[in-house]
Amino acid sequence: NYLRHVESMSQLPSGAGKISQLNAVVLGESLASEENDLIFPSKEFSGQALVSSPQQYMEMHKRSVEDPAGFWSDIASEFYWKQKWGDQVFSENLDVRKGPIRIEWFKGGITNICYNCLDKNVEAGLGDKIAMYWEGNEIGVDASLTYSELLQQVCQLANYLKDIGVKKGDAVVIYLPMLMELPIAMLACARIGAVHSVVFAGFSADSLAQRIVDCKPKVILTCNAVKRGPKTINLKAIVDAALDQSSKDGVSVDVCLTYENSSATTRENTKWQNGRNVWWQDVIPKYPTSCEVEWVDAEDPLFLLYTSGSTGKPKGVLHTTGGYMIYTATTFKYAFDYKPTDVYWCTADCGWITGHSYVTYGPMLNGATVVVFEGAPNYPDSGRCWDIVDKYKVSIFYTAPTLVRSLMRDDDKFVTRYSRKSLRVLGSVGEPINPSAWRWFFNVVGDSRCPISDTWWQTETGGFMITPLPGAWPQKPGSATFPFFGVQPVIVDEKGNEIEGECSGYLCVKGSWPGAFRTLFGDHDRYETTYFKPFAGYYFSGDGCSRDKDGYYWLTGRVDDVINVSGHRIGTAEVESALVLHPQCAEAAVVGIDHEVKGQGIYAFVTLLEGVAYSEELRKSLVLMVRNQIGAFAAPDRIHWAPGLPKTRSGKIMRRILRKIASRQLEELGDISTLADPSVVDQLIALADV
Ligand code: WT7
Repeated sequence: NYLRHVESMSQLPSGAGKISQLNAVVLGESLASEENDLIFPSKEFSGQALVSSPQQYMEMHKRSVEDPAGFWSDIASEFYWKQKWGDQVFSENLDVRKGPIRIEWFKGGITNICYNCLDKNVEAGLGDKIAMYWEGNEIGVDASLTYSELLQQVCQLANYLKDIGVKKGDAVVIYLPMLMELPIAMLACARIGAVHSVVFAGFSADSLAQRIVDCKPKVILTCNAVKRGPKTINLKAIVDAALDQSSKDGVSVDVCLTYENSSATTRENTKWQNGRNVWWQDVIPKYPTSCEVEWVDAEDPLFLLYTSGSTGKPKGVLHTTGGYMIYTATTFKYAFDYKPTDVYWCTADCGWITGHSYVTYGPMLNGATVVVFEGAPNYPDSGRCWDIVDKYKVSIFYTAPTLVRSLMRDDDKFVTRYSRKSLRVLGSVGEPINPSAWRWFFNVVGDSRCPISDTWWQTETGGFMITPLPGAWPQKPGSATFPFFGVQPVIVDEKGNEIEGECSGYLCVKGSWPGAFRTLFGDHDRYETTYFKPFAGYYFSGDGCSRDKDGYYWLTGRVDDVINVSGHRIGTAEVESALVLHPQCAEAAVVGIDHEVKGQGIYAFVTLLEGVAYSEELRKSLVLMVRNQIGAFAAPDRIHWAPGLPKTRSGKIMRRILRKIASRQLEELGDISTLADPSVVDQLIALADV
């Protein structure tokens, strides 16, 4: 039986033929070992799955790319539209040679994503279903909201925002930790057509100020403080510093609505400025629990989310309403094989795109029960995640490779002392998952029963692009497998020529998909230059990728000057700008290095001003500079004092050489004769351990 099942699963997409691997295991049958690197879904799993065979996937994928309008409008029809979209389901120009880049989906369609997340579910009878379980940092501190209760809370906040003058199209900055108020705030903005811009509450005051200055919000939503693990972080103090900074830069924010997170600190201990500051709990409960929806066009903006690029300031990625709604809902449903009885937990923070698409919108559009966790995954110990899984009977658990790697360093008993039998599907996101972490996640966490959806996507793509459909495909540890419906990945060479079959190169995408970002806020030129000019006719992801003989995609990491630290995207240029703000730093060059837990670490070469001596104290103050300018997560792992940097005669820093020195691959330095001063290389090597 299994053999026949395996046989029927082995038919791969056109061109790739049959999977040649014979060393296969079936889910739940045995452990995934290094020899068994093809893992088949069990008959039971496939039997209940939304997409249960490669054939079914292939038929659906074929239709989605041959008839995107038909495919996506069928799905969109399952959602509520006040008015249906116009004649054209989508229209696009993705070729810079043919004019400005433009992507539109469901234009003319009038809807509201908050309505589809909440009212629609309540009307369908899910009012009493738990929408959110909230687990606080400390064990035993928890709360929950049903869909009806969530709707009421969203309406109260929406009414308040309207009352203070927030209108359709206005920006609202949200600087909150993982309290229920964070998704509530996002949904309240969406309800009234305001454009939210969530800033991850680990960013520093300067980073927050930079984003405020860029999007000019009327109001900022925050809380007094948060506890993460044993540490208390006074967010309100950070917001105050950011608002002082932004008003110096000409942007002042009228209102700072502050949630009193009493588990972290008290009102008395919070710095306060009357006038601008309002306590959330003092005003919001007074507002009515219902609020008219602001109906918006499918192409009206939903949110801005700042992300790092290889150069310059963070970019405001802009997503619109209709396409994003349909795309996040559909990707969530299929990639996790979602069923109404599931309890879903994504460990990402809503400050990143994963929390937008797969804590808030995607799951709630499906009426799912979502776990929101305030704390740190290793507090009070490495078993916390599995304690939460058992407590809420989590069936879908979605996390990042960095967490998997950090937990696998601890004893397996932190996992095995919990039952975890509710788990059904696991997910991974943020960076390539190395096969050994994949196997530990699969064998130990999932008891070799649960498929892993390794989802490749980006802030820009809005939702999953390359991902397993857990019931459809045999999996290979470390491969994101195949494209989602409607996605046409292409691998191109340096010249932009598409390469077929087994190959490696730059990952691009042909054609648009509903969840694609539409522009960079206030800078459409940069949007075109960064994403559509490198390889004309395609969207360029910035990632390297290979495709194996069976047609599986393997992401290999960024090919630009962006580093990925614990799944957090950081531009080397941003870290360099922070370092050179240090009064004793003359120049800085930052590269990524391999890091056992974080995936990549930050390695900074710095040159000092004339006469300044390098010291431990100086090293610490350089690191502090980056923490203060960007946030603790961007702190360099290594500072390498450099009397000079390797530059070409035209003054360009040769990062290739710096990368080799940073990773101590000294025999692979390559040709250094084109350097203006080749002797700096020896100097740098001599100082490597200072
Ligand atoms: C970059 C995008 C998308 C949510 C989190 C990060 C890397 C993301 C994977 C994966 C290999 C991955 C890529 C991408 N990445 N997921 N499953 N396998 N690499 O979003 O901050 O926009 O970063 O993260 O390098 O370009 P982001």
